[in-house]
Amino acid sequence: MPLDLLEKAHDTAATSPLTITPVTAVLGAEVSGIDLREELDAPTLAALRAALVEHKVLFFRDQPITDEQQVRFSKYFGPVTPAHPLTNGRDQEHIEIMENVQSVLNARRPTFTPEQQAVHRASHRQWGRRGWHTDITFVENPADITFLRAHQVAQVGGDTAWVDLEALYDSLSPALRGFLDTLHAGHYRNDAGSGYALPKRFDGRDNNVPFLALHPLVRVHPESGRKSLFLSPIFLRYIDELNEEESEALLGYLKNELAARIDLQVRFRWTPNSLAVWDNRSTTHWGPVDPKQLVGERIVRRTTVGNSHAVGPDGFQSRQIAGASFYTLD
Ligand SMILES: [Fe+2]
Repeated sequence: MPLDLLEKAHDTAATSPLTITPVTAVLGAEVSGIDLREELDAPTLAALRAALVEHKVLFFRDQPITDEQQVRFSKYFGPVTPAHPLTNGRDQEHIEIMENVQSVLNARRPTFTPEQQAVHRASHRQWGRRGWHTDITFVENPADITFLRAHQVAQVGGDTAWVDLEALYDSLSPALRGFLDTLHAGHYRNDAGSGYALPKRFDGRDNNVPFLALHPLVRVHPESGRKSLFLSPIFLRYIDELNEEESEALLGYLKNELAARIDLQVRFRWTPNSLAVWDNRSTTHWGPVDPKQLVGERIVRRTTVGNSHAVGPDGFQSRQIAGASFYTLD
């Protein structure tokens, strides 16, 4: 964000009740003094947008908003997308809202036969595996910003965690950073080979096909200009320039580093009517972190905005290799 706009945002914060309080020294901030049932004025929006780029994840508490108010709030940050490239929204009236229901029961997938379990395991998309990912990076233009609202909180557990991918990049040696700057990686998802077919989409797009996108391994944030390590572990399968063994070894190191750096993480305990907003261009996340242990049912509703292509330090722009790219609704 340009300096004059930042100063304007800070000036406004001094005269308004909007308060932004960092949760860790690295990423995450709680936002208070705002009512998301109301429309936002331009200075408040400018302050929120600046805070999102700076802190990467914003947390709002005690916001009893409706689906429509969530969509309206999301649209302040960019054009809203359909719920997901593969799965439908809640219904035909809420095509932009994805509902995710998690409980111990559905984490165990009791409806799978042993044969389906086996096919699922072989497809490299096991349920219950470590869940670090950045949203929908199997398309060339994944969502820029995600909004996740607690519709129903679990009795115990159900937290979401994020890692700061800019801080992770900065933590590496200059020699390794220089090498990573030159690389590109394949992000893949194939539900067609996972043992069951997805329901047909409202918009008629083919979802039971492999999706593969090539992204820069290091991406440059379009607003801050900062570099981040573009890791989305669930989907990231190979580094294009390396042979298979080299790719496995380097990705193993980077994914382990991501998971081990708890100093670069923030973790959110959901409460009724809470909302988390995060920048997918500089973070990766995992939620719920405990699908096999959480007590009670956890229901969240998600919206996403923006669908920009990642750009690498060399100017490379993400591109789709298989499956269709994503789109926005307005
Ligand atoms: Fe996600």
